[in-house]
Amino acid sequence: MQIKILAVSGSLRENSSTQHILNNLKLLAPNDVEIIVYAGLAELPHFNDAADQPAAVLAWRKQLAEAKAVVICTPEYAFGVPGSLKNALDWTVSSGDFGNKPVAVITAATVGDKAHASLLLTLSALSAKLSDETNVLIPFVRSKITAEGNIKDAETIRALQAAIHALIKSAATL
Ligand SMILES: Cc1cc2nc3c(=O)[nH]c(=O)nc-3n(C[C@H](O)[C@H](O)[C@H](O)COP(=O)(O)O)c2cc1C
Repeated sequence: MQIKILAVSGSLRENSSTQHILNNLKLLAPNDVEIIVYAGLAELPHFNDAADQPAAVLAWRKQLAEAKAVVICTPEYAFGVPGSLKNALDWTVSSGDFGNKPVAVITAATVGDKAHASLLLTLSALSAKLSDETNVLIPFVRSKITAEGNIKDAETIRALQAAIHALIKSAATL
Protein backbone atom coordinates (compact mmCIF):
# COMPACT_ATOMS: atom_id res chain seq x y z
CA MET A 1 0.00 0.00 0.00
CA GLN A 2 1.22 3.50 -0.86
CA ILE A 3 2.08 5.75 2.11
CA LYS A 4 0.75 9.25 1.40
CA ILE A 5 2.91 12.18 2.47
CA LEU A 6 1.70 15.74 2.02
CA ALA A 7 4.47 18.17 1.08
CA VAL A 8 4.06 21.89 1.75
CA SER A 9 6.33 24.58 0.36
CA GLY A 10 6.58 27.80 2.37
CA SER A 11 7.58 29.75 -0.75
CA LEU A 12 5.06 30.93 -3.33
CA ARG A 13 7.84 31.97 -5.70
CA GLU A 14 7.90 30.29 -9.09
CA ASN A 15 11.00 28.13 -9.52
CA SER A 16 11.66 28.34 -5.78
CA SER A 17 14.41 26.43 -3.96
CA THR A 18 11.93 24.89 -1.55
CA GLN A 19 9.78 23.62 -4.42
CA HIS A 20 12.90 22.12 -6.04
CA ILE A 21 13.79 20.38 -2.77
CA LEU A 22 10.33 18.84 -2.55
CA ASN A 23 10.65 17.64 -6.16
CA ASN A 24 14.03 16.09 -5.29
CA LEU A 25 12.46 14.43 -2.23
CA LYS A 26 10.00 12.63 -4.52
CA LEU A 27 13.00 11.02 -6.24
CA LEU A 28 14.75 10.17 -2.95
CA ALA A 29 11.70 8.52 -1.35
CA PRO A 30 11.09 4.75 -1.58
CA ASN A 31 8.66 3.47 -4.25
CA ASP A 32 5.85 2.76 -1.79
CA VAL A 33 5.70 6.42 -0.80
CA GLU A 34 3.53 8.92 -2.64
CA ILE A 35 4.51 12.55 -2.05
CA ILE A 36 1.67 14.92 -2.92
CA VAL A 37 2.60 18.59 -3.11
CA TYR A 38 -0.05 20.88 -1.59
CA ALA A 39 -0.92 23.52 -4.20
CA GLY A 40 -3.41 25.69 -2.32
CA LEU A 41 -1.26 27.87 -0.05
CA ALA A 42 -1.73 31.06 -2.11
CA GLU A 43 -5.52 30.63 -2.16
CA LEU A 44 -6.02 30.30 1.58
CA PRO A 45 -7.75 33.37 3.02
CA HIS A 46 -6.23 35.14 6.01
CA PHE A 47 -7.02 33.29 9.21
CA ASN A 48 -9.92 34.38 11.33
CA ASP A 49 -11.45 32.48 14.19
CA ALA A 50 -14.98 32.33 12.72
CA ALA A 51 -17.17 29.23 13.10
CA ASP A 52 -17.58 28.65 9.34
CA GLN A 53 -14.43 27.69 7.51
CA PRO A 54 -14.07 28.60 3.80
CA ALA A 55 -13.92 25.80 1.18
CA ALA A 56 -10.18 26.34 0.58
CA VAL A 57 -9.52 25.73 4.27
CA LEU A 58 -11.65 22.60 4.35
CA ALA A 59 -9.75 21.30 1.29
CA TRP A 60 -6.40 22.00 3.04
CA ARG A 61 -7.58 20.19 6.16
CA LYS A 62 -8.87 17.23 4.10
CA GLN A 63 -5.48 16.81 2.43
CA LEU A 64 -3.83 16.89 5.86
CA ALA A 65 -6.23 14.28 7.20
CA GLU A 66 -5.57 11.95 4.24
CA ALA A 67 -1.78 12.13 4.69
CA LYS A 68 0.08 9.71 6.96
CA ALA A 69 2.80 12.32 7.40
CA VAL A 70 3.72 15.84 6.32
CA VAL A 71 6.91 17.45 5.01
CA ILE A 72 7.21 21.21 5.27
CA CYS A 73 10.01 22.88 3.35
CA THR A 74 10.31 26.59 3.90
CA PRO A 75 12.58 29.59 3.43
CA GLU A 76 13.16 32.21 6.15
CA TYR A 77 11.81 35.72 5.60
CA ALA A 78 12.90 38.57 7.88
CA PHE A 79 14.07 36.13 10.58
CA GLY A 80 10.75 34.27 10.61
CA VAL A 81 8.39 31.77 9.00
CA PRO A 82 6.76 33.07 5.77
CA GLY A 83 3.37 34.57 6.60
CA SER A 84 1.47 32.41 4.11
CA LEU A 85 2.78 29.23 5.73
CA LYS A 86 2.05 30.46 9.27
CA ASN A 87 -1.43 31.40 8.08
CA ALA A 88 -2.05 27.83 6.82
CA LEU A 89 -0.93 26.43 10.19
CA ASP A 90 -3.09 28.91 12.12
CA TRP A 91 -6.18 27.52 10.34
CA THR A 92 -5.52 24.13 11.97
CA VAL A 93 -5.03 25.28 15.56
CA SER A 94 -8.50 24.52 16.90
CA SER A 95 -9.12 21.41 14.77
CA GLY A 96 -6.14 19.40 15.97
CA ASP A 97 -5.32 18.26 12.40
CA PHE A 98 -1.62 18.08 13.22
CA GLY A 99 -2.14 16.18 16.48
CA ASN A 100 0.37 13.29 16.58
CA LYS A 101 0.96 13.66 12.81
CA PRO A 102 4.60 12.99 11.92
CA VAL A 103 6.01 16.19 10.41
CA ALA A 104 9.44 16.70 8.86
CA VAL A 105 10.70 20.29 8.88
CA ILE A 106 13.17 21.36 6.21
CA THR A 107 14.29 24.97 6.29
CA ALA A 108 16.18 26.07 3.18
CA ALA A 109 17.38 29.67 3.25
CA THR A 110 20.48 31.80 3.36
CA VAL A 111 20.83 31.05 7.08
CA GLY A 112 17.37 29.91 8.22
CA ASP A 113 17.96 28.96 11.85
CA LYS A 114 15.37 31.39 13.25
CA ALA A 115 12.52 30.27 10.96
CA HIS A 116 13.50 26.65 11.63
CA ALA A 117 13.24 27.10 15.42
CA SER A 118 10.07 29.15 15.12
CA LEU A 119 8.34 26.61 12.88
CA LEU A 120 9.25 23.77 15.24
CA LEU A 121 7.81 25.78 18.13
CA THR A 122 4.54 26.39 16.24
CA LEU A 123 4.27 22.72 15.28
CA SER A 124 4.85 21.68 18.88
CA ALA A 125 1.94 23.96 19.85
CA LEU A 126 -0.12 22.01 17.29
CA SER A 127 0.99 18.72 18.94
CA ALA A 128 2.66 17.46 15.76
CA LYS A 129 4.93 14.43 16.10
CA LEU A 130 8.42 15.92 15.70
CA SER A 131 11.86 14.37 15.84
CA ASP A 132 15.41 15.64 15.41
CA GLU A 133 15.88 12.85 12.84
CA THR A 134 13.29 14.36 10.50
CA ASN A 135 14.45 17.98 10.67
CA VAL A 136 16.95 19.41 8.21
CA LEU A 137 18.37 22.94 8.09
CA ILE A 138 19.88 23.78 4.69
CA PRO A 139 21.82 27.08 4.83
CA PHE A 140 23.14 28.75 1.66
CA VAL A 141 20.53 26.76 -0.24
CA ARG A 142 20.91 28.66 -3.51
CA SER A 143 24.50 27.38 -3.83
CA LYS A 144 23.35 23.77 -3.41
CA ILE A 145 20.82 23.58 -6.24
CA THR A 146 21.54 23.64 -9.99
CA ALA A 147 19.70 25.91 -12.44
CA GLU A 148 17.63 22.86 -13.42
CA GLY A 149 16.55 22.35 -9.80
CA ASN A 150 18.73 19.37 -8.90
CA ILE A 151 20.49 19.23 -5.53
CA LYS A 152 24.22 19.18 -6.16
CA ASP A 153 25.42 18.97 -2.54
CA ALA A 154 26.03 15.38 -1.41
CA GLU A 155 25.60 16.16 2.30
CA THR A 156 22.19 17.76 1.62
CA ILE A 157 21.07 14.72 -0.40
CA ARG A 158 22.21 12.42 2.43
CA ALA A 159 20.41 14.50 5.08
CA LEU A 160 17.16 14.59 3.07
CA GLN A 161 17.29 10.86 2.40
CA ALA A 162 17.82 10.15 6.11
CA ALA A 163 14.97 12.50 7.06
CA ILE A 164 12.43 10.96 4.66
CA HIS A 165 13.29 7.46 5.87
CA ALA A 166 12.95 8.56 9.52
CA LEU A 167 9.61 10.17 8.69
CA ILE A 168 8.29 6.96 7.10
CA LYS A 169 9.46 5.00 10.13
CA SER A 170 7.69 7.44 12.44
CA ALA A 171 4.46 7.16 10.39
CA ALA A 172 4.66 3.35 10.41
CA THR A 173 4.57 3.21 14.21
CA LEU A 174 1.14 4.92 14.39
C1 LIG B 1 11.89 39.22 1.63
C2 LIG B 1 12.99 38.23 1.93
C3 LIG B 1 13.48 38.14 3.21
C4 LIG B 1 14.48 37.21 3.51
N1 LIG B 1 14.92 37.10 4.79
C5 LIG B 1 15.80 36.12 5.11
C6 LIG B 1 16.19 35.92 6.47
O1 LIG B 1 15.77 36.60 7.38
N2 LIG B 1 17.04 34.89 6.72
C7 LIG B 1 17.54 34.07 5.74
O2 LIG B 1 18.29 33.15 6.06
N3 LIG B 1 17.20 34.26 4.45
C8 LIG B 1 16.34 35.27 4.11
N4 LIG B 1 15.96 35.45 2.81
C9 LIG B 1 16.55 34.59 1.80
C10 LIG B 1 15.65 33.42 1.47
O3 LIG B 1 15.43 32.61 2.61
C11 LIG B 1 16.30 32.59 0.38
O4 LIG B 1 16.47 33.41 -0.75
C12 LIG B 1 15.49 31.37 0.02
O5 LIG B 1 16.27 30.61 -0.87
C13 LIG B 1 14.19 31.73 -0.67
O6 LIG B 1 13.45 30.53 -0.83
P1 LIG B 1 12.76 30.15 -2.21
O7 LIG B 1 13.85 30.03 -3.24
O8 LIG B 1 12.16 28.81 -1.93
O9 LIG B 1 11.76 31.20 -2.54
C14 LIG B 1 15.00 36.39 2.48
C15 LIG B 1 14.49 36.52 1.18
C16 LIG B 1 13.50 37.42 0.90
C17 LIG B 1 12.96 37.51 -0.50
